[in-house]
Amino acid sequence: MKLALVGQLGAAERQAWMAALQHALPEAQWVEAAPGAEVDVVLVANPPPGQLQGLKGLRLIQSLWAGVDRLLADATLPQGVPIARMVDPAMSAAMAETALWAVLSLQRGFFDYARQQREAIWRVLPQRRADEVRVTVLGLGEMGLTAARRMVAQGYRVQGWSARPRQEPGIDSVHGEEALPALLSRSDVVVNLLPLTAATRGLFDAQRLALLPEGACVVNLARGGHVVEADLLAALDGGRLRHAVLDVFQAEPLPADSRFWSHPRVTLLPHAAALTDARSAAGIAAANVRAVMAGNPPAHRVEAERGY
Ligand code: NAP
Ligand code: GLV
Repeated sequence: MKLALVGQLGAAERQAWMAALQHALPEAQWVEAAPGAEVDVVLVANPPPGQLQGLKGLRLIQSLWAGVDRLLADATLPQGVPIARMVDPAMSAAMAETALWAVLSLQRGFFDYARQQREAIWRVLPQRRADEVRVTVLGLGEMGLTAARRMVAQGYRVQGWSARPRQEPGIDSVHGEEALPALLSRSDVVVNLLPLTAATRGLFDAQRLALLPEGACVVNLARGGHVVEADLLAALDGGRLRHAVLDVFQAEPLPADSRFWSHPRVTLLPHAAALTDARSAAGIAAANVRAVMAGNPPAHRVEAERGY
């Protein structure tokens, strides 16, 4: 079988991936993904548009990323080839850790204490209990559900939102667009773990941010395209929103002149909430490659009409 690895990977990262993939798929022949090349499966790490153009004989596009919005937006993508996204419990666990760090820090005022330290201020802030905080997780998929369960275990009042109905112990969940306004209006912290699709792009705009209670917080760990950044900054500037924890942005790397870098009510990460770990993900990708080569459907196939 002929495989190719494509994506924006630094030399060390590519080397680590190749070592893990060669170990997981010793029978594979690795080829360059050039136009006209015969490739059975291409493994992709968020490739820039055009990189899969002209590949011949493709049976599977296996994403090494969980989110496939950039891939699906590529107009040159070979048509009719199944796309599978990365679903790795290790990655979901990492995301749940980041979500918990953000929510816990917001609950206990740890970001405020960090700011006070920079200003040499010795001031004790009110201490809130976890069961006093309503945490809403938008998206109850692999990432969202793992994070929401972690919040339940931590004692938060957890609410969830999905496209289709979902019943989960300890999570007060609703679904569909019409349920969103009421849900937002009873949320102290909103954690975004939605895929970026036509239905979710720009979800956090001025209108929806205004539905949040005074002093609410936003945690965006999904995609920058979910947020209208000017509207979020206005809500933070005006003091209606207490804090935002942001891992993802409209433009990445975040431009040096972005106000998010120095905003006193913002804590940010460089799109690092949950990295794919080649040590576990290579085996997951390998299982999908073997399934497809044996004539079976891949696991975690993207539903093109849903966009995730
Ligand atoms: P997933 O398993 O496909 O789950 C997506 C969830 O979102 C599902 O519960 C789905 O509802 C819900 N959803 C989708 N469209 C919706 C809509 N219009 N209204 C309400 N709910 C909607 O995806 P995942 O693996 O959890 O990943 C989610 C996203 O996290 C990825 O797409 C990616 O953007 C982001 N991510 C970020 C990082 C990072 O480091 N920052 C790392 C990994 C992933 P149903 O259950 O009803 O289908
Ligand atoms: C990272 O953002 C991913 O989608 O895997």
